[in-house]
Amino acid sequence: MNKDARATPVRATSAGAPAWIFGYGSLIWRPDFPFIAQRPALLRGWRRRFWQASPDHRGVPDAPGRVVTLVEEAGAHCWGMAFLTAATEREAILAALDIREQNGYEREEVMVALEGKDTVSALTYIAGPANPSFVGPAPLQDMATQIARSHGPSGANRDYLRELAANLSRLDIEDEEIMNLSRAVEALRA
Ligand code: BEZ
Repeated sequence: MNKDARATPVRATSAGAPAWIFGYGSLIWRPDFPFIAQRPALLRGWRRRFWQASPDHRGVPDAPGRVVTLVEEAGAHCWGMAFLTAATEREAILAALDIREQNGYEREEVMVALEGKDTVSALTYIAGPANPSFVGPAPLQDMATQIARSHGPSGANRDYLRELAANLSRLDIEDEEIMNLSRAVEALRA
């Protein structure tokens, strides 16, 4: 795991919403909110999946891209990044994230194990199977073709996947599905 992410000791003590926010997608490399510390963190029982359509960020309504959500799966796990936020800033941070992740994502409270030892309560955003943009699984090559072609207001879908794969590698996080998808998209460009 990346050394810088472990460097600062953290102390989480405050009332109200959990002090930690758990990111497993673009929050890993672009949290865009102030935080006191960050830690690689493990969420058990969930898997990161490219199963959410993106008609607003990495695609358009007529040609949506695909972005990640979390899908519950016994025995699975998902490594991501937990960010410790200050009580005084939390309300503004969550209000901004609610807007950024508005297409089907809901705030959920989960327990994550911080790299090292502590288990903490954290907020995360999950787009569940009942939301209208949940598209579920597809063959790898079909997902790769969709991602390679899609562009939206936040940029190319392939750049989102490339950033995710690069940041998981940087943090020594293994995610075979993401790496396979990333290779399949890059192969389409070659
Ligand atoms: C995340 O990084 O955790 C995330 C980003 C976008 C939507 C949902 C979650």
